[in-house]
Parts: sequence; C-alpha cells; structure tokens
Amino acid sequence: MALITGPVIAVEEVTRRFRRGSETVLALAGVSVELYGGELTVAAGPSGSGKTTLLSIMAGIERPDAGTVHTHPPLPPRQRPDQLGWRHLAFVPQALALLDELTVAENVALPALLERTGTGPDPELLERLHIDHLAGRYPSHTSGGEQQRTAVARALRLRPPLLLGDEPTGHQDRARVELLLTVFRQHAYNGNAVLVASHDQDVIAAADRVITLADGRITSDTRQQTRTYG
Ligand SMILES: Nc1ncnc2c1ncn2[C@@H]1O[C@H](COP(=O)(O)OP(=O)(O)OP(=O)(O)O)[C@@H](O)[C@H]1O
Ligand SMILES: [Mg+2]
Repeated sequence: MALITGPVIAVEEVTRRFRRGSETVLALAGVSVELYGGELTVAAGPSGSGKTTLLSIMAGIERPDAGTVHTHPPLPPRQRPDQLGWRHLAFVPQALALLDELTVAENVALPALLERTGTGPDPELLERLHIDHLAGRYPSHTSGGEQQRTAVARALRLRPPLLLGDEPTGHQDRARVELLLTVFRQHAYNGNAVLVASHDQDVIAAADRVITLADGRITSDTRQQTRTYG
C-alpha cells in the first residue's frame, strides 16, 4: 500500500444550496476540512446541520455549488453509491444501498468484483462483523442491523484509504455499536481516514477527532483522547 502523506481528502470552502419551492436552503456554507490517515473523525451536529450533505460531497454523490474537493489519490467523477471507486473511497449511506438480488456475501464481494481485484466476500470480514452465518441470505431476509453491518463489510472489503459512514451504527444494539467502533478504529489505525456522521454519544466518545456542524458551518473541530479499544 502506498503511504499517503498529507490529507486523504481536502474540502475547501464548499457551499451547497438546495431549492425547496421558492425557498433556498444553505446546507453547507463555506466548509473547509481535511481528513488524515490514522484518524477516526466523527461529524456531529443537530439534524439538518449538513452532515449528510458533507459526506455526499466528499463521496462525489453530490456536487458543491462552490468550493473544491481534492482526494489523494484523485477520484473520477461518480454519480451513484454503487459506482464509487471502492478501492479508494467507500461510503456507507444511511439508506445502505444493498442490492437485494445479491446475497449478503455477494454484496460484500461486490467492490472486489467491480474493481476486478481478488474475488469473494472475505470470510474473516464477515466473521468480524457477525454476519458470517447470513452469507447465503438475501438482505431483505435479514434484520436492519444485519443489513447495516453488511454495508459496512462491503465498504471495508477493499480496505479503502477513505471510509465514510452516514450514521453507520444507527440500527445496532450497544454491543454491536462497540463492535463497529472497534472495526472503524482498527481501519483508521491501519493508516486510513475514517469519517462517521453520528449523534451517538458513544460514537462521539470513541473518535480521535470531533467536527461539529451547525447550520452548514463547522463550529468546532477538536482532537480528543479516547479510551483503548480491543
Ligand atoms: N435534496 C434536498 N433537497 C432540499 N433540501 C435538502 C436536501 N438535502 C438536504 N437538504 C437540506 O439541507 C440541510 C442539511 O441537510 P443534511 O441532510 O445534510 O443534514 P444532516 O446533518 O445530515 O441531518 P440528519 O442528522 O437529520 O441526518 C437541511 O436543512 C435539509 O433539509
Ligand atoms: Mg444526515
């Protein structure tokens, strides 16, 4: 793996407006942020503060009205979550975007298939996310929490240098929130940048860095000590 020095992604002065009838909503109002390998960052902030918009712009799903996004390595422009360059950047959208014609194992294997690099779902990853017993099931025949862990496994399949998760622990019980935090932290400590949008105090407490958004602006950006995770 190439060592990445400097930010994995740099967002500069990004603005995003949405039109709702005659009204214009300023979802992001000049946001600048850089993410580095080795850190788990949590984007916190109230509902409507711009977290999803920021992640979508970083993932290339939304385009900014102004400002720039640079990734290292650079990403080609992409339109849909299932067209992401999974090798470089993986997204766990809130709606998960699993393909229901594919089994759990096939969904996890999808990035490897699309990027023609290796094959299969990675049995160790399925085990780590407690979905190995569901490998042959279709997502619609699994629970919301299991579907969410499948989407996390899919995102990690190619161990991308940038992992983005939009409330990726929202359907989990406490034990599974801890499990996912351990997985995210491990991925960060392997040298990758991980950004998770969350309201969950346990998730915020596990972060190396917390960015708080309010009304489309970053109002605080702090690094914090965390307790040791397994
Ligand atoms: N497609 C859209 N059309 C119109 N307005 C939108 C659209 N997407 C987001 N917005 C508005 O932009 C603002 C930021 O929304 P965003 O989804 O980024 O917030 P959020 O912090 O992720 O909130 P939540 O915690 O509820 O998920 C909100 O005012 C929202 O209503
Ligand atoms: Mg959101």
